[in-house]
Amino acid sequence: MALPFSHSIPSPVSLHPMPSHLAADAPAVPVLPRSTDHHHHKLVISGGGHLSGHVPISGSKNSALAVLAGALCCSGGAVEVRGVPDISDARAMVAILRSLGAQVQERGGGELAVDSTALSSAEPAADEVRKIRAGFFVLGPLVARLGEAAVALPGGCSIGARPVDLYLRGLSALGAVVELMHVKAANGRGLTGGRFHLDYPSVGASETLMMAASMAEGVSVLTNVAQEPEVADLARFLVACGAQIKGVGTRTLVIDGRRSLHGAQFTVIPDRIETGTFMVAAAITRSCVSLSPVIPCHLTIIIDKLSAVGCRISQKGDGILEVSAATATAGGDLRGLYLKTLPYPGFPTDLQPQFMALLTTCGGPSIVEESVFENRMHHVKELQKLGARIEVHGRSAFVKGRTTQRNVALSGSKVEAADLRGGAALVLAGMAARGVTEVVGVHHIDRGYENFEAKLLNLGADISREVIC
Ligand code: EPZ
Repeated sequence: MALPFSHSIPSPVSLHPMPSHLAADAPAVPVLPRSTDHHHHKLVISGGGHLSGHVPISGSKNSALAVLAGALCCSGGAVEVRGVPDISDARAMVAILRSLGAQVQERGGGELAVDSTALSSAEPAADEVRKIRAGFFVLGPLVARLGEAAVALPGGCSIGARPVDLYLRGLSALGAVVELMHVKAANGRGLTGGRFHLDYPSVGASETLMMAASMAEGVSVLTNVAQEPEVADLARFLVACGAQIKGVGTRTLVIDGRRSLHGAQFTVIPDRIETGTFMVAAAITRSCVSLSPVIPCHLTIIIDKLSAVGCRISQKGDGILEVSAATATAGGDLRGLYLKTLPYPGFPTDLQPQFMALLTTCGGPSIVEESVFENRMHHVKELQKLGARIEVHGRSAFVKGRTTQRNVALSGSKVEAADLRGGAALVLAGMAARGVTEVVGVHHIDRGYENFEAKLLNLGADISREVIC
C-alpha cells in the first residue's frame, strides 16, 4: 500500500547533553574479526584472574531500539541517532525500518540517519519482528501515522510468556480496532486522544502507546507508565521531534498529539545494564575497574546492592565510576544479600542473572526473587554445572555462597547461554571459576553487548572467541 508523503526538512536540534567521554577519548577497543554466523561460536574463558583498567560503555540497547522505532513518527523530516550499539538487535531494527520503506544510512561510530518521510508499507518484515521484542514497538507509530498496521507477534528473550495485551488494549483506548495482528484506526484515518491505565508498568507497552499518542488527534492521558530511563529517553527524543509530552519520567504522561513530527539529532543514553554487567565483572573477580560514560542516577539501586555486598563504588569525575572489590580479599570477603527484581527504580531484572552469578561467590546465603518475568532462571542450571549451589523454588533462587574464605566457589565447565543476560552471567562466572569455562549460545550475548569479549580482554581477562567446528 503506497502512501505518498512529501515534507520539507526542518533544522535539526540537539537535545541530550552527553557526559563528555562518549567516543572521543574513550580507550580504543579492538574490534575482533567475526564471521556472520554467531550460532557456531563459543567463548573460552580461563578464570581466576583479576581485571584492571577502564571500560568504555556503549549507548543503551533498549533506548536505541525504542528511538529507532520512534523515528517512524517523524513524517516531517529525517533523524540522526547517535550512540546506537553495534549489536544484532539494532541490525534487526534497521531491517524492520527498511522493510517499511524508511531510508537508513549507517554512518559508522554508532551514528544512523533515518528518513521515514516516505513509507511504502504498514507491514514490517515478520521474520525480523520475530527476532526482537522491540520489533513490535513499531505498531504504535504505524497505526497512528498510517491508520493501520499488520505486525507479527514479537520475538526476544524466552524469559516468560511476554503477552502484548497492554499494547492492544491501550491502542483500543486510542480508537483502534484489533483484528488478530491487524490493527487499524476505527475512523479509518488515525488515532484519537484517550485515557489508558496500564495494569502493569510495561516498558514496551508504555513506549508504544507514548509514540501512538504523540500522533493521535487530541489529548491522551496514560497512567501507571514505566519509568525506566530508556522510556524517558524515548520521550525526550519525541519531544525533540516536536511531540507535546508532559510528565516525562513520572508514572503519568499527558500527551497532546500532533499529526506529524519533524526530524532531530539525538544521542541515546549510556547503557545502564551494560554498565551494571561490567560493575559485576569487577566484583566477581575481586578487582578494581572504572567505567564511563555513566549517568549515576540511573544506577542508584545497582550501586546500593554492590555496596551492600561489600564493594566500594566511587565517582571519579563527570560520568566516570570506579568499582573496587579488590580489598575484599584483604578485609573479609563479599557477602550475600536478598534481591528482588522490580520495575524501575527497583532492581532491574536485566541484571538478575549477573548478580546471581556474583552471589554464588560471596560468603553466606542469598535470596534472589524474580518478580518481573515468570521464567527467568535458565542460567541457574548452567551455574550449577560450574559448581554453584542454588535451589529454585517458584520465582526465588536460594543461593548458598562460599563456605570458607579459601575455597573457590566455582570450577570451569561447558555451559550454554539461553538468553542475553543469562549468557553474560555465565561469562562473568567463568572469569571467577578455577580452570577453563566454555560458553556456547554466544549469539544471545551478541544480541545486546557491543564488543563484549574485546572489552573484557582490554581489562585483562583471559577470554577468546572460537568457531565451533
Ligand atoms: C523491556 O522488555 C526490555 N526490552 C527488557 O530487556 C526488560 O527486561 C524489560 O523491559 C523489563 O525491564 C526492551 O526494552 C527491548 P515489559 P518488555 O513489557 O518491554 C508483562 C534485555 O535483556 N506484560 O516491561 O518486553 C510481561 O509479561 C531485555 O535487554 C504484560 O503482561 O518488558 C512481563 O512479565 C529482556 N502484558 C512484564 O509485563 C503486556 O502487554 C514486564 O514486561 C506487556 C507486558
